[in-house]
Amino acid sequence: MASPAPLVIVTRRLPQGIEKRMTEKFRVRLNETDEPMNASTMIAAVKEADILVPTVTDKVGPDIIAAAGPQLKLIANFGVGYNHIDVKGAAAKGIQVSNTPGVLTDATADITMTLLLAVTRRAVEGSKVLEAGQFKGWCPTWMMGVGLRGRKLGIVGMGRIGEAVAERAKAFGMLIHYHNRRPAAPDVEKTLAATFWPNLDAMLPEMDIVSINCPYTPDTFHLMSAERLRLLKTSCYLVNSARGEIIDEAALADALAEGRLAGAGLDVFEKEPQVHPKLLGQKNAVLLPHLGSSTIEARTGMGEKVIANIDAYLSGRALADPVRPPGG
Ligand code: DGY
Repeated sequence: MASPAPLVIVTRRLPQGIEKRMTEKFRVRLNETDEPMNASTMIAAVKEADILVPTVTDKVGPDIIAAAGPQLKLIANFGVGYNHIDVKGAAAKGIQVSNTPGVLTDATADITMTLLLAVTRRAVEGSKVLEAGQFKGWCPTWMMGVGLRGRKLGIVGMGRIGEAVAERAKAFGMLIHYHNRRPAAPDVEKTLAATFWPNLDAMLPEMDIVSINCPYTPDTFHLMSAERLRLLKTSCYLVNSARGEIIDEAALADALAEGRLAGAGLDVFEKEPQVHPKLLGQKNAVLLPHLGSSTIEARTGMGEKVIANIDAYLSGRALADPVRPPGG
């Protein structure tokens, strides 16, 4: 008797068209309830799945990798960030990992601009005033924000998303500065008229707005520490659409409450889905519930990448988007 086709377990609901295509192509188990998996349901999944399709809401840490059965051969992550997966442990066990780069770049850069505009123009604060019935009519001195033209934007992490943010910000007349492990390609730097800062601590005090666009790794945990937050001007705005863990969220809440920063726009949080209580209700904090990739185009593109990586694995080809372990 022929052995059954490899089992693909998907941990969350995916866009309808993607689930349909996966069901047509693979032996797939979907998560009809969309309930995030806990440690025990995840362990059960990795004991059975040949291919696991997790998302950012799943913790696929060393304990889960250790519990995985020998049949698990591919973790095809639905998302570009993979800090929730023990990639090193997976590689050591012969499990390949893939992600979905590129297809969510525009969506994430757009949400960064949404945060940047909303926080500098006090859009959410203004909307709350209306909702509370407190709008008494136009007033020449009321609720002034700051304009973007001529302001210095410091981008931390000049990868695909950082570059897409720079491109948009330049169109708003901003001056592009960036910190990265290495300078961007000369043509990119020229097109963006961007200034490279090898030293983050030197860049921060000079910026009007700082945007976090680097991946979260052990090296970037609390990159924006309490000490670094103190390097920012009191008129500076901080925007984060990458990962919450890159900023010391409690220290940021204190800085906002004490008026040491003009404002913050955050799409990601350190202990998601929890948000530091001091940030909630903070007038100059614009908070979004991790919407970076939430466009139909991006989410469909992410699903297509998952399918392409599974296809490649099943037909014995190299993965289109392999995630290599550090130093691998
Ligand atoms: C990603 O792809 O890493 C996003 O944060 C999830 O939408």
